[in-house]
Amino acid sequence: MTATTASSATTMEKGPAAYFKTRLGSFLAVVPLGLWTANHLWNNLAALHGAEAWEAAVVRHSSPFAEALGAIIALAPLLLHTVWGLARLFMWRPNVGSYTYYGNVKFILQRVSAVGVLLFLGAHVYLAWIKPHVFEGHGEEFEDIAKEMFTSADGPTLIVYVLGTLGVSYHLANGLQSWAMGWGLVGSRDAVKKFEWVSLTSFVLLLAMSWGAIFGLYTAGRAIVAQEAHDKAPAAVQH
Ligand code: HEM
Repeated sequence: MTATTASSATTMEKGPAAYFKTRLGSFLAVVPLGLWTANHLWNNLAALHGAEAWEAAVVRHSSPFAEALGAIIALAPLLLHTVWGLARLFMWRPNVGSYTYYGNVKFILQRVSAVGVLLFLGAHVYLAWIKPHVFEGHGEEFEDIAKEMFTSADGPTLIVYVLGTLGVSYHLANGLQSWAMGWGLVGSRDAVKKFEWVSLTSFVLLLAMSWGAIFGLYTAGRAIVAQEAHDKAPAAVQH
């Protein structure tokens, strides 16, 4: 996305209140939402080390207060950024004539990925957080999520996670570039071009963490299902 294509959306609202809303929504997208997302993906990599490591890194908290604080830090900026993003989703004018084709494609992909991320996070927050906490009285259990990732028994879980995290990784990594331009961290055409590498590297890292965690859950799920089948088999056929 180029600085000018991005700002074409923002010029539609004017005045100090609109300016403040624009800045706030943009700020929250990276600090703390982007940082929280990167940290969450990193923590989930513990799935590669098994149930105990994953539950300690992702689900367990030192106290109910720490748990509530963690939820607020994650969900409040997500909610505010989503409201901000939904308001801006349709505020755009394709500008293929004046700006590069590549910049316009990225601009549109940022919005398409936003819709995908919204659907994915809606399902993810409900199934992995609200449902176990509110209806089952405990946090998500490794065995449940690992088995579901392998079997996809309750829906297309694996494919939804693979595509959902692809959308999150793209949306955050590409968003970093427009964010840096919006906050004046990169100005010149040359600096924007160089920042492309920061975006690209972030995308690869975020996706590697996401898919690494999914791989860890999937392989653990496969082992659990195989063990259960082995345990259920009649003694005569067990070795
Ligand atoms: C993990 C969740 C999310 C993260 C980390 C995230 C991050 C970002 C970042 C860093 C930007 C660039 C901000 C800027 O240019 O100042 C951005 C832009 C955007 N986000 Fe999100 N976002 C997330 C979820 C969502 C959701 C659920 C929506 C809702 C539809 C959404 C809609 C948008 C839109 C429309 C833009 C482009 C705004 C523009 O260029 O005018 N985002 N996001």
